Formats: sequence, C-alpha cells, structure tokens
Amino acid sequence: MNGNLKLAVQSKGRLTDKSLELLKHCGLDIEDYSERLFIPAGNFSMDILFLRDDDIPEYVQDGVADIGIVGENIFLEKQTQTKILEKLGFGRCSLLIAHPEKTKLKDVKDIEGKTIATSYPVILKSFLKKEKINAKVIELSGSVEIAPSLGVADLICDIVSSGNTLMQNKLKGSFKVFDSQAVLIGSVKNSLPETKRKILSDLLLRIRSVLTARNSKYLMMNIPKSSLNKITGIIPSLKSPTVLNLADDKMLAVHAVIPSDKFWAIVDDLKTAGASGILLLPIENMIL
Ligand code: PRP
Ligand code: ZN
Repeated sequence: MNGNLKLAVQSKGRLTDKSLELLKHCGLDIEDYSERLFIPAGNFSMDILFLRDDDIPEYVQDGVADIGIVGENIFLEKQTQTKILEKLGFGRCSLLIAHPEKTKLKDVKDIEGKTIATSYPVILKSFLKKEKINAKVIELSGSVEIAPSLGVADLICDIVSSGNTLMQNKLKGSFKVFDSQAVLIGSVKNSLPETKRKILSDLLLRIRSVLTARNSKYLMMNIPKSSLNKITGIIPSLKSPTVLNLADDKMLAVHAVIPSDKFWAIVDDLKTAGASGILLLPIENMIL
C-alpha cells in the first residue's frame, strides 16, 4: 500500500471518459486506461481504481477507495455513509417515470395502482410516498426498459440522458423524479490521514478551478471612451473589468471574465452602447 489517495471511477460507462477528462484538465498525467483496473496518476499522489458504479458508494464508505466519482442517482439510491464533496457538472441526466407510448398517463395520480420496474427502488419509493401514491415497485438490476413489453410492469422508472433508450423501446417519459449529475463523494465513516487530506484538498482546489473556468468566458471588446460607464454597468463581471488604452485615443479596450450563460443576454446592449470587435474566449483554468 502506498500513501496515494485512491479515487474510484466508473469502469466503462457513461461517466468514465468525462471523469478522466476532468482529471486531465486538473493537470493530472493519466495514461490510456483501457482494460485496466488500476492506474496511478503520473505526476500526482493519486491512484485511480475502475469499479462498477453501483459499488462505488460502498467502497468509498468502507475505505477501499478514499473518494469516488458517481452519478448522484447512485449516491442517493445506495444510502451509504458517504457525502458529496463537490457536484461536477457533467453526466447530467434525469430519473423519469416512463410509460408505453400507447397508454395514457396525464396526471401523476394515474400512477396509482400501477406496477413500476426500476433499478432505483429507494428513490422511487420516496417519490411515491411524497406524492401519496400507492404503486407496486419491482426492482430490476438492468434492462429496465424492456419490462413493459415483457408484461412485467406497466411503467418504468429509469435514468434518461439522451432519450434514445426510451425511444427505441417505444416509451415516453412522463414524470421527473430526480435530476442527477456526476458528484465527487467521500466517506463520513472513515477519516483520512493527514497526508491524504492534503492531497484531497489540492485535488479539490484544482477541480473547483476547472469547474469555474468551464462556466466562465473571457470577454474582450473595443469601446468609445465616452461609453465606459455604460459598458461596465452592463458587464456581469466576476471581478472589475480590465480597461486598456488603444492607439486611437477616443477608444478603449475592455476585458472581463463573465459567466458563460450571461453572454447572449448582454451582447445586444453592448453593441447598442457602442462596443465593437466583441470576442468571447474559453478559459482553460482559473484560480479564485
Ligand atoms: C441508463 C439507463 C439507460 C440509459 C439511458 O443507464 O438505464 O440504459 O442510461 O440513456 P439514454 O437516454 O441516453 O439512452 P446508465 O448509464 O445509468 O448505466 P447502468 O445503469 O448500466 O450503470
Ligand atoms: Zn450501473
């Protein structure tokens, strides 16, 4: 056993590639993982273990892995003594109740008395309880989407990401039970030794800066000097914008980091206020 922090990642699944991509953006040197169960990060005191996603919460709880990346759906379903250290913003999907195209399901009350197949009985039952609905829950570990056509269940409750699986099985999503994304989890039972805590806090700092950078853009534009106040009033900047002189002394360049999703809401106002040569650039990393 080395003193490296052990991170569990889903082996061959929806979250595998994006989990490794996040780690690479954090500056970790990770080799091609294909078919391997275990790889060390070349330049960081961390080992990556590839495990079945359903097993990750329990392994983290028991200290087989120190931390793990799983879907929030698995985290919630497994009810282990683990906690979310950070929401990771990728692998977004929803847990939906879906019905065969030909049956009608208008109101959530129409679920009453039905049979629902799912791999998420814990989450589903708590949803049904909250909605005060009596329905029979059948737990299946996989291929839930074929349950209605086999006559095993009236409805299903499963993860929907692109919607392809539902479409291929002539099912329609009707009610949302839960919105999920990838999360980083740690044990609440096992406390980490000081050395691993330091590695984890370094990793968290890097992850947070990558996530902030992903949600931010670098905005650049030229403006007439006279409209500086107006323009800075429009920009939803994370910090005060940078203002630079240009060769043309009636003009200024303004640079600012803005939340990515705000750009299209302000671009017309910027143009009306006289901004020109507007550029929006991605940010690779950002330390706050
Ligand atoms: C879910 C779900 C479907 C698929 C839906 O499985 O059970 O099979 O994803 O995705 P789509 O809407 O893009 O077609 P998941 O990836 O969670 O894998 P697992 O249950 O086998 O671990
Ligand atoms: Zn799984």
